[in-house]
Amino acid sequence: MTAERARITIFDTTLRDGEQSPGCSMNQPEKLRLAHQLDRLGVDVIEAGFPIASDGDFESVRAIATAVRRPIIAGLARACRPDIERAWEALKGAARPRIHVFLATSDIHLQYKLRITREQCLAQAREAVALAKSLCDDVEFSPEDATRTDPHFLCQVLEAVVEAGATTLNIPDTVGYTVPAEFGDLITAIRRRVKGIENVTISAHCHNDLGMAVANALAAVAAGARQVECTINGIGERAGNASLEEIVMAMRVRPDRFAYETGVVGDQIFAASQLLSEITGVPVQPNKAITGRNAFAHEAGIHQDGVLKNPLTYEIMTPQSVGVPDSKLVLGKHSGRHALGMRCEQLGYQFDRRALDDIYRRFVRLADKIKKVEDHHLLELIRDTHKPSGSATPLIEPIPAAKAASGIEPVISVPPANVAGPANPPAPEPMKPFPVGPQTNAFGVPLPVHSDPHHEQTQQEDYLWGV
Ligand code: KIV
Ligand code: ZN
Repeated sequence: MTAERARITIFDTTLRDGEQSPGCSMNQPEKLRLAHQLDRLGVDVIEAGFPIASDGDFESVRAIATAVRRPIIAGLARACRPDIERAWEALKGAARPRIHVFLATSDIHLQYKLRITREQCLAQAREAVALAKSLCDDVEFSPEDATRTDPHFLCQVLEAVVEAGATTLNIPDTVGYTVPAEFGDLITAIRRRVKGIENVTISAHCHNDLGMAVANALAAVAAGARQVECTINGIGERAGNASLEEIVMAMRVRPDRFAYETGVVGDQIFAASQLLSEITGVPVQPNKAITGRNAFAHEAGIHQDGVLKNPLTYEIMTPQSVGVPDSKLVLGKHSGRHALGMRCEQLGYQFDRRALDDIYRRFVRLADKIKKVEDHHLLELIRDTHKPSGSATPLIEPIPAAKAASGIEPVISVPPANVAGPANPPAPEPMKPFPVGPQTNAFGVPLPVHSDPHHEQTQQEDYLWGV
């Protein structure tokens, strides 16, 4: 019998902290569109904005609160009356509203930013949460810069706001300073020392300045946090926030280490990532885990050969599990004949082994030489290989071995007229679109569902050539 998994609340702050990322601001219709996608994605809480920040943000929070009814809708407020009242004004139409109050607690922030004493901070936090509670049942409190706050004072503030009615205590690593073991210890200490903690949810809010936001969030969960704050594609202030898709998929791929569940609908992840990228115009980093365009792409011959035989060799999750339409094999200079032969077949050309050897040698030279290899290059290469004198501007010099082999007729599964050249290529299968942003220096080949036994004879050569 498997033990029951703890349920982790996914608090998405793409529309608030994420939007604070330079170049990522969104207008009201865009925010609403993304909020609907976050709803489809199954997040538990949508932090829709910071209503006091601008009229636009206020209207966005209000529109989302009115239109998106399943998740909790949160609005951010500093620990002061005008912010809290404005947040409530925007949120009060929500089916499940939450006011999120924050106040910095570290000495650095108290001394240089807020210019208040610890005593003043304690009183302000308590009063602000009590005011929020008088308006809304669901109140979250965040001691900003918690990880650089004296832990003793931090626990004092947390205890005061629990008494005042906070239902979630969010622990922000505002400047991405902490490391996993330390952050886990902090959550453990809070659970031990804060009176009334058993009645509230502990949350983690991690920034990525040292690239550890996701690891820190997972360490907090292991230590007892039951909410994580995160963003799509990890966008957010400076180096960003913990990425939603990475946290969720770490739990799904490694349940042996992270025995938790979330309400996230995996196959909506990629759509959310793409929509955010489309709205903001900020492309996803190509090697971004889970949602980058290379996350399920394979270029090296050994990898392509392995994935064609069984995707488990080089994929720890299926692309479909996160809503990516397909894996792709990228034909570049590291590719093997297995993948090249498959792409030729998809373009309508089937070669016997010697002919494929010949094409492959030319392909490697071409891939070495030009930056962007497209289908039409491959078609021209095929034509050049078999009719070298017919090309006015061959892409590559014929090589002696290829000359000798050029008499070999390919087994072509399209009418000969279509062999004429790139201007009139055989209609290939439409390519599966992959994430927005500049293309790589190669073209993508959709991965078939099953490995083709025709290719099995070439496996050894792929190890020799394709690496
Ligand atoms: O990083 C941070 O401290 C925040 C708080 C407002 C929660 O975003
Ligand atoms: Zn933040």
